[in-house]
Amino acid sequence: MDDSNSISMGHVDQTGGNEPAQSPEDRTITEEGRRAAQYIRDLYESGAKLWTKESLREIEDILEAGQPSRELKLRHMDGQQRETWVPPLDRIMNNQRTRRPEDELLLQGSLRAHFVCYRQMLYDAEGYDGSDGYYDRKHEVENGRYGRFLRSLEVVASTWSCQPGTGPSVQALTEEWEGVRALWLSSSACADLLTIFSHHKDLPKITKVVCFGLGCLSSPMDPDEKEVDYKRHMRRRMTQHAAALSVAAKVGELLGVDDIAVLAQDPAYTDDDRQFLDEIGIQVVGMHGAMGFVHVDDQSIVMSCSPDICVKQVIADIARPAAVIWNRVTTEEEDEFEWSTVVEPDGQEISVSPWTTDDDSPRTRKMIESYTRYTFVKDDANFTDIEVGIRKD
Ligand SMILES: C[S@@+](CC[C@H](N)C(=O)[O-])C[C@H]1O[C@@H](n2cnc3c(N)ncnc32)[C@H](O)[C@@H]1O
Repeated sequence: MDDSNSISMGHVDQTGGNEPAQSPEDRTITEEGRRAAQYIRDLYESGAKLWTKESLREIEDILEAGQPSRELKLRHMDGQQRETWVPPLDRIMNNQRTRRPEDELLLQGSLRAHFVCYRQMLYDAEGYDGSDGYYDRKHEVENGRYGRFLRSLEVVASTWSCQPGTGPSVQALTEEWEGVRALWLSSSACADLLTIFSHHKDLPKITKVVCFGLGCLSSPMDPDEKEVDYKRHMRRRMTQHAAALSVAAKVGELLGVDDIAVLAQDPAYTDDDRQFLDEIGIQVVGMHGAMGFVHVDDQSIVMSCSPDICVKQVIADIARPAAVIWNRVTTEEEDEFEWSTVVEPDGQEISVSPWTTDDDSPRTRKMIESYTRYTFVKDDANFTDIEVGIRKD
């Protein structure tokens, strides 16, 4: 996981990517588990999509309307709508409040869309031991034998605590922005990134840049965090937003259009972020983590850096953007299978899966073959293992 996660103010996502500490590599995979995983592999290879624009729009609309009912049905990988567990946000927050009565921090929380990546689905299916209790039989009759393992979209509750009033104001952000932007514009990383676009022959038509997970800028300071680290993280995130604006301006100049829109999705954005970003020309979309994808089409540039979700896999299912600026698509050989252990702010140890940050899949590897790939590695402080891809057609 990227070190920039440490600014997360103790975010706790109730997701499938993390589990109570154990040794996941040590588990035994039964014949049933192998069969369930093979079922998913076959479905995937037949072209079944894990996500569609319709399912993403639907989940964003549902979450925008407030706490969904417990009988919420969401699209699964085989196209079927099935009942999906919805975390009760109020109850979760109340429990956390009572667990930490000494806490004077402000506890906040929201429901978000969560994307179960392909590797996670296979992992979950492999854990199936074929147990046939009443619930399982009932479930099978209603949902098909492996229906429970086909859930690629779910709702998670994200909670975090912060010191009220310690985040920078919109005015402070604006002052910081001037310096960060000037530094970015004079950097060799900026020159390298823009040169990739200006040297590329026959740029496809581009009308917008859609960004994912560039990070919150105005988060209050975590009491355990050093000020120097807080500033470093904030500047890194600002630099990424500055890069998105620079790319939009450069591409507009090259294509002779002056209104390349810049959209950004990160459910962690605060109201101050939204106001600030609006002032510098970036429109925030998808506060529940899904709607940004609906905006992506074949005239978009997709930009992201170390997002907590599998941006590349979602994009590979729903669009063929004109260009991508994102974490390098790794080879299959590079897929490590090492879980790490982290200690949560409440002392609980959890295992973190190796697919927590923008994992790749056979489909992302296939997709990137139709792009001309450029390495962009000149600024490790502000970007992590980024590549640029421009569609070949
Ligand atoms: C590790 S941080 C990376 C921040 C920044 N890009 C960087 O490199 O420092 C991951 C970011 O992904 C964001 N994220 C989580 N779910 C997301 C979603 N559904 N859509 C977009 N961003 C998301 C988190 O809020 C967080 O800001």
